[in-house]
Amino acid sequence: MREIVVTRHGAPEVMEIRERPIPEPGPGDVRIRVKAAGVNFADVLARMGLYGDAPPLPFVPGYEVSGYIDALGPGPSRHERGRHVVALTPFGGYAEYAVAASDFVWNVPPPLSHNEAAAMPVTFLTGSVALYRMANLRSGESVLVRSAGGGVGVAAVQLARLRRATVIGTASSAKHSALRSLGIDHVIDDRRADLEAEIARITNGRGVDVVLDPLGGASLEQSYRLLAPLGRLISYGTQSCVDGFERDDARVQRVLDSRPRFDPLDLMRANKGVFGLNLGHLWKERRYAAWAMEALLTDFAGKRLRAVVSKTFPLAAAVSAHACLQDRANVGKVVLTI
Ligand SMILES: NC(=O)c1ccc[n+]([C@@H]2O[C@H](COP(=O)([O-])OP(=O)(O)OC[C@H]3O[C@@H](n4cnc5c(N)ncnc54)[C@H](OP(=O)(O)O)[C@@H]3O)[C@@H](O)[C@H]2O)c1
Repeated sequence: MREIVVTRHGAPEVMEIRERPIPEPGPGDVRIRVKAAGVNFADVLARMGLYGDAPPLPFVPGYEVSGYIDALGPGPSRHERGRHVVALTPFGGYAEYAVAASDFVWNVPPPLSHNEAAAMPVTFLTGSVALYRMANLRSGESVLVRSAGGGVGVAAVQLARLRRATVIGTASSAKHSALRSLGIDHVIDDRRADLEAEIARITNGRGVDVVLDPLGGASLEQSYRLLAPLGRLISYGTQSCVDGFERDDARVQRVLDSRPRFDPLDLMRANKGVFGLNLGHLWKERRYAAWAMEALLTDFAGKRLRAVVSKTFPLAAAVSAHACLQDRANVGKVVLTI
């Protein structure tokens, strides 16, 4: 079978296509003949050597796939061969066959295509944990989704709309009309406009109830400032460490040095809360992942949520798929097709 391997850390071209034997599923595992693999910014960070949880080199990136169950590992299983499924695969998704633990494999409801199914697990689970579990978002509250045009952003906008929240997003201007069609209430190009002034104008100076921040570094300080009393900040990324295709250690250090240290006394005085979220460290919370994923798939089946596939690339063009994300050219997800 063919798979994409990160051979060394660096620009997208460090990824190469390789042949290897089809993997055997172990006890409790499921093997999937992959039809589509989601591409995440985490894969970009892992490729650049900026992702602490990445396996040692060489490794196959890819956190999520959809396709058909092709083989079951030894022992009893609640899954059946031939089923159209979506799965979380901590690495190994950019391949013609992938092995996943059966607890992280779900049947795909009929309206979802392979590409749409592969586009939803990481982004919608992240949005759901952030907004529904951590922030406990209520109807009538306001949310600021930073990088609203990215994969998680597009998911979070829809999840917040479903809770009848007022949704404000930041994104490059070229993405504004697509975000409006998803129902976003206000969208700001924060590389051109003064974000704090815009939030003050939209909220009559009160601030927002929830901020989702994938940028990290100094952006967190600003996100915290933008919160209204009882506001919740969810920090879930370090995107501002990246500028260009190659790792820039001086920039990474600057971003790390500029991250705020939150003082519990200040949090008390301000009545604000700060959460950190890392989906990859929730593997042991299988019951929660299953519950959240089943709720999401029900909303997909009922067409209350929509997987937004921005661009697809064949597996062999993984280099172009990563370049697409890093060129900020996506609105929603980039998917590799097989
Ligand atoms: N902690 C977790 O569990 C978890 C889970 C999923 C994702 N994440 C993190 O969330 C962030 C978003 O992930 P994603 O997969 O949704 O990303 P994505 O789809 O690749 O989002 C890309 C968008 O982010 C914006 N952006 C901001 N800074 C950027 C930069 N330095 N380089 C490139 N694009 C930048 C761009 O939009 P504009 O041009 O419109 O600004 C770009 O189109 C990443 O940091 C990722 O690691 C964390």
